[in-house]
Amino acid sequence: MTHLTELHTLRLRLRAWRPEDRESFATLNADPTVMEHFPEPLSHSQSDLLADRIEEHLQKEGWGLWAVEVARTQAFAGFVGLNRPAFQARFTPAVEVGWRLPRQYWGNGYATEAAEAALAYGFQSRGLAEIVSFTSTGNLRSQRVMEKLGMRRNPEDDFDHPGLPRDHRLCRHVLYRLTRSDWTAPRDREGAPAAPFSPEPREGPTP
Ligand SMILES: CC(C)(COP(=O)(O)OP(=O)(O)OC[C@H]1O[C@@H](n2cnc3c(N)ncnc32)[C@H](O)[C@@H]1OP(=O)(O)O)[C@@H](O)C(=O)NCCC(=O)NCCS
Repeated sequence: MTHLTELHTLRLRLRAWRPEDRESFATLNADPTVMEHFPEPLSHSQSDLLADRIEEHLQKEGWGLWAVEVARTQAFAGFVGLNRPAFQARFTPAVEVGWRLPRQYWGNGYATEAAEAALAYGFQSRGLAEIVSFTSTGNLRSQRVMEKLGMRRNPEDDFDHPGLPRDHRLCRHVLYRLTRSDWTAPRDREGAPAAPFSPEPREGPTP
């Protein structure tokens, strides 16, 4: 059986998905503000299908897009984690770090804190040489998270998302990269919590 690694930060738990997360996830995916930088909000069944795919990957690999839980309240707060982009581009195959949080949790540094743990897991436990992140050019909030993580954008890496028509408002994407050596080097990452990652990831059976 594949063991799912859970990650713990100062304020968050990155854990396996639970059936009761589905309702909150559907609400999150139906919110037009959350989904502003995606082609459209998702219906409940589309949201469930996405959760199925995410859970399948987590169960198979033991890592992926973890469900985020606020430690203090145990509330579900979206997903953060690692994923393999399903499309082909100049930078694929690759592992990306990604996030989607309900609006009420924005602005607390949660995405950055959770992504720090995912990056540490990817570099330390999976031995990845590089982790990327990408988003549409207008998603400045997400790009700010990438910058706070110490990821760097080279405009020459900008690309058109192959899943979207060339004239689509979201087609043009920016790519941010972080290599393991840059990640281990001393960084100036203002805003990043001092010790967000529990060095001993806990392992438990997948649900
Ligand atoms: C992107 C997202 C995960 C950020 O979550 P979060 O927990 O608020 O992120 P953080 O608090 O860690 O950091 C957000 C940063 O963006 C900044 N920010 C907020 N709005 C911004 C804007 N319009 N332009 C630029 N920066 C912005 C914040 O000030 C903060 O930076 P700071 O710490 O220097 O002040 C969240 O907004 C989200 O789920 N968005 C919808 C889904 C999405 O777009 N996912 C990414 C698709 S690739």
